[in-house]
Amino acid sequence: MIFVPIDRVCKNMVLARDIKIYSYDLKNIDLLKKGLKLSLKSIDRLKHIGYSGIYVYEDNEKTKTLEKPKQILNTELREKAIDNIEKLFQHIDNNDKVNDILLENVNNVSNKIVDNIVHNKRYLVNIIDLKLYDDYTYHHSLSVSVLATSIGISLKLSKKSLYELSLCGILHDIGKIQIPHYIIAKPSKLTFEEFDIIKEHPPKGSNYLIKNRLVTENIYNGVMSHHEKYDGTGYPYKLKGDQIPLFGRIIAIADVYDALTSDRPYRKSVLPSEAIEYIMGNNGIMFDPKIVKAFLMKIAPYPVNECVKLSDGNVGIVTKVYSENPIRPVVKLLNNTNKIYDLYNNLNLMNVTIVEII
Ligand SMILES: [Fe+2]
Repeated sequence: MIFVPIDRVCKNMVLARDIKIYSYDLKNIDLLKKGLKLSLKSIDRLKHIGYSGIYVYEDNEKTKTLEKPKQILNTELREKAIDNIEKLFQHIDNNDKVNDILLENVNNVSNKIVDNIVHNKRYLVNIIDLKLYDDYTYHHSLSVSVLATSIGISLKLSKKSLYELSLCGILHDIGKIQIPHYIIAKPSKLTFEEFDIIKEHPPKGSNYLIKNRLVTENIYNGVMSHHEKYDGTGYPYKLKGDQIPLFGRIIAIADVYDALTSDRPYRKSVLPSEAIEYIMGNNGIMFDPKIVKAFLMKIAPYPVNECVKLSDGNVGIVTKVYSENPIRPVVKLLNNTNKIYDLYNNLNLMNVTIVEII
């Protein structure tokens, strides 16, 4: 099978995986079955829901020209991770006590995430690769875990700390299970009262985990403090600067970046470059400058082989990403000239930006 970005999915491609489509209230689920030949209507529906891509069978003629993007996690591990995270979250939703086996499974999978990323550490995180899954909660947990682990590697944390950090990324929003679902999925702006209720999810989550003796102190601290802000205006304790535990400062960036680049019930996603600019714009305000720097070394908003539109109207394929400035990669134009645009080194191109992933 091959992953195809949604804008390159064509009629008659054959789905290689079942796709669950939830309604906003999570009460109804439709299933597009593996083996389904896609119609224009089903492709439109997937686009409308916000899918960034899908898996289709590789032997289809139309997929032959598409190159497979490099994946920081292999497909099997991602599927296993999502499956285990989903089981754990659903179990906690239905029961007061956590099933040790489910937590152990999530712990094992989070350790494997670290091993995978450490093994592939020369690759930047391909953000398109993280946008595959439809269900926001589980997909977001996995993305935050991957991004946080990558930041941790950039900060040269020990393997033991990376294992803890990866699990912290998966569990950071576990307290949201105890928040009424109508507030989490509300498509319009929250009232002050509703926002106050949302603010309870870090203490609810971390206290739940510690009460059930499920996690280490570092993970507890990370879950509790992932909405604190560097300037002291966050919640729940308005901690400032280095008062905020390290895991909280790392998860904060991973969480905001993934949330901004995902479609939510109340707004559309923004471009990766806009999310990065938001994070850079909040350097030293919301976020710790040391962590922002580590994050920028690890993120690839425009991965190699991605097709992009430029502000001068040209369209091209990304051929190289600079880890020191991932927003300005090398782009090979898709026109008769086949020109190479080095957006980082060529000063004549300073006014040219990437405006769209296509
Ligand atoms: Fe949160």
